[in-house]
Amino acid sequence: MPGLTIGDTIPNLELDSTQGRIRIHDFVGDGYAIIFSHPADFTPVCTTEMAAMAGYAEEFKKRGVKLLGISCDDVASHKEWIKDIEAFKPGSKLTYPIMADPDRNAIRELNMVDPDEKDARGVSLPSRTLHIVGPDKTVKLSFLYPACTGRNMDEVLRAVDSLLTAARHKGKVATPANWKPGDRAVIGPSVSDEEARKLFPDGFETADLPSKKGYLRFAKV
Ligand code: BEZ
Repeated sequence: MPGLTIGDTIPNLELDSTQGRIRIHDFVGDGYAIIFSHPADFTPVCTTEMAAMAGYAEEFKKRGVKLLGISCDDVASHKEWIKDIEAFKPGSKLTYPIMADPDRNAIRELNMVDPDEKDARGVSLPSRTLHIVGPDKTVKLSFLYPACTGRNMDEVLRAVDSLLTAARHKGKVATPANWKPGDRAVIGPSVSDEEARKLFPDGFETADLPSKKGYLRFAKV
């Protein structure tokens, strides 16, 4: 994924959206934000993703995470599309803004172009990219999916919970494979056992592995 990547500052673009003009850094503010792209309005997978994201909006809000969609059609098209999205999931309300990028400049700067997907004019469409941006406006995590594969919002939420857990512990812990909130985290390799004893007075467990290197340590967080 060349271009914008983990640790880079998200470009401070100003774009029209379904909720007015948005400047990305102001939108992110001092919390976290998820900026996610879709190939095009009125397409099947995108409609299910938008509806799914609307259903998770409350969970993200509880965690102080804002949502910001982007699709390459214009605002008028997005507003019409929202009616379909909400009808697809009766009772749902799409509360987050969708930015418009009809000339595809923003998706290039945000590293969201899918070179394999083109519109009728042969112009590249956005991939299903998703950047989780932190309060410092840098990219903390990205997903890069092709048009054929809709994203799993449980996984987006799990990734947010992992990032927030690591940030709360100032990068001293990480979350292992298939971690879920409530599971134990692992203690990062830069933390000595001495420091770990101070950080986790209730103790931690070191996996007994053939190497005896003692690097896989689990703690309740
Ligand atoms: C979709 O959202 O279903 C879609 C969009 C672009 C290409 C293929 C599928």
